[in-house]
Amino acid sequence: MHASIAVLPGDGIGPEVTSEAVHILHAVAQRWGHAFDVEEGLIGGCAIDATGEPLPAETSRLAFRADAVLLGAVGGPRWSDPDASVRPEQGLLGLRQALGVYANLRPISVHPALSAASPVKADRLVGVDILFVRELTGGIYFGEKTRQPLLGGERATDLCVYTTEEIERVVRIAARLARERRRRLTSVDKANVLETSRLWRRVTDRVMHDEFPDVTLDHVLVDACAMRLVQAPATFDVVVTENLFGDILTDEASMLAGSIGMLPSASLGEAPWWSEDAPGPTTRPGLYEPVHGSAPDIAGRGVANPIGAILSVGMLLRHSLGLTEEARAVEQAVNAVVADGWGTPDIAVSDGLRCTTRELAERIAGRLVEQRDDVATHAVGSNETTQVA
Ligand code: IPM
Ligand code: MG
Repeated sequence: MHASIAVLPGDGIGPEVTSEAVHILHAVAQRWGHAFDVEEGLIGGCAIDATGEPLPAETSRLAFRADAVLLGAVGGPRWSDPDASVRPEQGLLGLRQALGVYANLRPISVHPALSAASPVKADRLVGVDILFVRELTGGIYFGEKTRQPLLGGERATDLCVYTTEEIERVVRIAARLARERRRRLTSVDKANVLETSRLWRRVTDRVMHDEFPDVTLDHVLVDACAMRLVQAPATFDVVVTENLFGDILTDEASMLAGSIGMLPSASLGEAPWWSEDAPGPTTRPGLYEPVHGSAPDIAGRGVANPIGAILSVGMLLRHSLGLTEEARAVEQAVNAVVADGWGTPDIAVSDGLRCTTRELAERIAGRLVEQRDDVATHAVGSNETTQVA
C-alpha cells in the first residue's frame, strides 16, 4: 500500500513522542512492504512562533492532501497568557473542525501489568474495557464566546449549542461500535439542568429505539458518571457524550490505565468507515493523537511515554488505511513490552525496567519485527476497533 501521512508534532513532548510513533510506522512499512510518505507540518505554539498563526494554511493543505494526520500535542506556558488573542489550542480545534472529525474514539483498557500504577484499587480494574466516543466538533467548545466590561469587572459567556443532526451522527457511530462489542451504550449528559442535554437525551432515545434495538442504552448524568468511573469502571462498554464532558471524563478515566501516556485516540468524520458492518478505511483523513497534552514540565528529558502516540498509529493503520493485521501487530508489540514490565518512569514496574522514550519505542519496534510471523496465526479475539493496550 502507498499512503501519505501528515505528521504534526506540535509542542512540548509532542515532537518526542511523534518521532517514535513515526519510527513504528516505518517499521510497519518495512516489514509489510508498504510505502508511507511522511510529511511534517507546524501546529500550535511552534506554528505561532514561526508564522504568527496556530494553524498555518500550509498545514491545513498538508492535512487535507494526506490519507491520515498524526498529531503530537499543542500548548505550553510560553503561549498560555489568558489575554493572548492567538493560542496554540486554536490550531488543534481549527484542524478538528476543518477535517470535520466529529467522533473522537478514546479506548481505555487496563494492562494487568499496570494495575499497580493506577490509583484505583486493582480489584476494581478487572475487566475494564471502555470505549469513549466524544463528540468533537460541537458544543461549548465551538459556540459563540463573548467578553464585556461590567461594573468594574467583566462578563464572559460561552454558548453551548447542539443540533439534532450533530447528536444523531455521533450516537450512530457509538451505537455501531457498541454492536461490535458488548452491545451496551451509556449516554452521558446533564439533562436535569441543561437544555442541550435534554435534546441530546431525546435524540439518543429515538435513534437507539428506531435503529439499534439490539443495543442496550442507559443514560447517566455526568456527575454520577464521574463517580461510577472510579467506583465500578468495569460496568461500562461504550460511552457517548458531548465535547466538554468527554474531555473531562477521558482524563479521569485515563487514570484507570495507570498513566494518561498510554492512551491513543482516533478522530473520524463522515466517511464509509462506519457505514459497513465492520469499520473499514476512511475516505477523508482521520486525525490521530495521544490523549495526553504537551507536558512542558517533562519535555526534552527523554522520559515521555510514547505508547499513546504509538497506539494512535495502530488506530491510524486500522481506521484510515484498513490495515488490520498491522494494527494488531502494533498493539501486540506494545502489550508484550508492557507485560515484561518495561516502561518510561510513569509506568515502569521497577527501577531496573525503567527506560527512556527512545528505548521503549525501540523495544516495541523490536517486538513488532519478531512477532511478524505470529500475527497471522494468532487471530486475536474480542474487538478489533478497540483492541489496544
Ligand atoms: C484533548 C485536549 C484538548 C481538548 C485541548 C488541548 C484543546 O485537552 O484533546 O483532550 O480540550 O480537546
Ligand atoms: Mg483533554
